[in-house]
Amino acid sequence: MLNFQFCSPTEFLFGRDTESQTGECVRKHGGTRVLVHYGGGSVERSGLLGRVLSSLDAVSIPYFTLGGAVPNPRSGLVYEGIELCRRESIDFVLCVGGGSAIDSGKAIALGIHYDGDFWDFFSGKTGAPAHPILPVGVVLTLPAAGSEGSTASVITHEDGMFKRGYNIEQFRPRFAVLNPELTYTLPSYQTACGVSDMMCHIFERYFTNTPDVDLTDRLAEALLQAIIYAAPTAIREPNNYEARAQLMWAGMLAHNNLVGVDREQDWASHSIEHELSALYDVAHGAGLSVVYPAWMRYQLDHDPMRFAQIATRVWGCDMDYQHPERTANEGIERLTAFWSSLGLPVTFAELEAKPEDIPALAAKTALGPDGLLGSFRPLDVKAIEAILRLACR
Ligand code: NZQ
Ligand code: ZN
Repeated sequence: MLNFQFCSPTEFLFGRDTESQTGECVRKHGGTRVLVHYGGGSVERSGLLGRVLSSLDAVSIPYFTLGGAVPNPRSGLVYEGIELCRRESIDFVLCVGGGSAIDSGKAIALGIHYDGDFWDFFSGKTGAPAHPILPVGVVLTLPAAGSEGSTASVITHEDGMFKRGYNIEQFRPRFAVLNPELTYTLPSYQTACGVSDMMCHIFERYFTNTPDVDLTDRLAEALLQAIIYAAPTAIREPNNYEARAQLMWAGMLAHNNLVGVDREQDWASHSIEHELSALYDVAHGAGLSVVYPAWMRYQLDHDPMRFAQIATRVWGCDMDYQHPERTANEGIERLTAFWSSLGLPVTFAELEAKPEDIPALAAKTALGPDGLLGSFRPLDVKAIEAILRLACR
């Protein structure tokens, strides 16, 4: 178990009608002039945006609205938001929506008081920010990315379509409103994409070389089991409060790093997937349900016992002590069958991705300074290509 420091300071308001407390929450966390940032219109159609704005009116906090954050959010709207916030002396960014609206809002909050281009941080040109970053609050409508409790923002730059993530502690929202009823309107495909994303946030931490991490392994396994149990119900019965509630809280716990604090983490599959969603504009969770099983097959022989452990503890497979790799493989098969049953793609063809793009996708994937990706068994460009080819079968 590694040494760690863990601070997850976000205040969570969980349950029915909690969005009515948004205005009070903004005030409590110091907001006096607010940017309300959202996506392509689902929050307008559902009436949520109106309720959130009323709650700001109720505490007499002035606000400006900016919609239009698209899935795989773009740099163009971030620049627009930064200009708007500077012009109107905004001091708090309130994001209403899924991961894309939240990430776009985080990037705006980063850029307002920075003299240069906010992309300097995402591209790695600039190190840790020395300037003030605006506080961010969240009203979540889609359990998936975990951005409501995470240190990350992921943005696609339109110049070259580079999709890059940036992590800083200041990106953890000051508060997040989580009302499971707000997720009833999600199309089943988006619910499923959220499920695969949160499961992969756990996998990225689970597949580690760090020994003696049994406590967090078991927390991770419990989270996975709860997700696997709740997901089919949420898809079959979109208005099932309990199933929606389990997924909403699980999505946060999967990515605020509770299950990763004590270990080296991998994150190769996320970087590989980011190139798929940048090129084909597919949902991040759908790209992951294609990439992750292929990554697992490629990495299995690095530590078959770890794959067998998750197969037995999470998927209920029988342990074959003579041939742990058989158990490990069975776990991967159960995972892909589960994702297929939710309507997710698990192959390149199902994603409508093209095998001939594989060399370009691999070449564009962001690598570490050592030219390698991930930590479980680090990947070079050839290994990334091999994984993408495994995803074609
Ligand atoms: O844009 P609107 O109209 O709101 O519609 C959205 C969008 O079309 C819709 N939607 C959201 N809530 C809804 C709803 N439709 C009906 N009812 C509701 N309640 O769903 C669609 C997808 O929304 P989006 O925000 O794009 O999805 P998600 O939350 O999965 O976010 C994906 C983004 O997060 C990034 C991904 O790469 C991707 O760009 N990630 C962010 C992370 C982070 N910040 O920590 C970590 C993740 O690994 C991930 O990379
Ligand atoms: Zn993710």
